[in-house]
Amino acid sequence: MTKQILILQGDGIGPEIMAEAVKVLNLANQKFDLGFELSSGELGGASYDKYGVPLADETLERARKADAVLLGAVGGPNWDTIDPALRPERGLLKIRSELGLFGNLRPAILYPQLADSSTLKPEVVSGLDILIVRELTGGIYFGQPREKRVLENGERQAYDTLPYSESEIRRIAKVGFDMAMVRNKKLCSVDKANVLASSQLWREVVEEVAKDYPDVELSHMYVDNCAMQLVRAPKQFDVIVTDNMFGDILSDQASMLTGSIGMLPSASLDVNGKGMYEPCHGSAPDIAGQGIANPLATILSVSMMLRYSFAQTKAADAIEQAVSLVLDQGLRTGDIYSEGCRKVGTVEMGDAVAEALKNL
Ligand code: IPM
Ligand code: MG
Repeated sequence: MTKQILILQGDGIGPEIMAEAVKVLNLANQKFDLGFELSSGELGGASYDKYGVPLADETLERARKADAVLLGAVGGPNWDTIDPALRPERGLLKIRSELGLFGNLRPAILYPQLADSSTLKPEVVSGLDILIVRELTGGIYFGQPREKRVLENGERQAYDTLPYSESEIRRIAKVGFDMAMVRNKKLCSVDKANVLASSQLWREVVEEVAKDYPDVELSHMYVDNCAMQLVRAPKQFDVIVTDNMFGDILSDQASMLTGSIGMLPSASLDVNGKGMYEPCHGSAPDIAGQGIANPLATILSVSMMLRYSFAQTKAADAIEQAVSLVLDQGLRTGDIYSEGCRKVGTVEMGDAVAEALKNL
């Protein structure tokens, strides 16, 4: 049976990195006889330019019907001055929310070949393999009310709301524990329970869920301490589960442990495991169109898609192996470049991964 994959390349470097990911996906499709059918649509600024909104109803409908969605990145200065409700990022948040993609998996793995690319000492990061499980459809990103207003005295004021319900916390905690069970049975829940009511409930519910996972060693950590520990001794972590905003910040931070945010893929899953896959990095408008962006995070997102949405473990492993082989060959985009390596552009990197995959 054919499987439908919707490709949303987005803005900035989105089209460039997606072209390479699609190259690798098409090849995997042939090589492993996956029966995928690809189609494409717009999201973010590209959608705003075409439809006047960052996510058109028709695109959302197609995303609902697809078996998986592969996304590049959204946003850029072209849309900085438009109505904030129509900004590219709103399209991304809407598709995550409408598809119910609450479970965001952000693995930070240091490829041994890149130990020198990290800004941290090799001994601090070598062998690093952590997974951040970020709640993606709740918390301060979506909480109501939120408002920017002018007070009676003429002063401007703005506020956001950070709500979490028990069921939202329980389902993301379960994802955290399930992931811990198939890894090293160690889970760290990150919150700010010394200050925030929502975090106090978070901690309570995580403790309750823990009763169903007696084999997992659970710890709790305040987010400020976690930020510090991530750069001090990141290998103490295995799986981290946290809320939407803390997960946004900590995953960017964790990415730098791996050499570059250009290496980090992600999966965003609903209750049934249907998913959208995207690199953790943004649309990098400063380097868009120059052919120098690192396509590996998007290529690795394809691998996550094969693993999580389609249980195609062999094909997923092969893509990861191809990436590793290319790094062995010393090929590096600018963001992961270190002395003695060969600096390549986006297309050359994508071609090399495709070639390595072909020969596996
Ligand atoms: C991410 C991004 C998004 C987020 C932005 C683009 C809305 O930073 O996926 O981490 O904050 O979730
Ligand atoms: Mg982010």
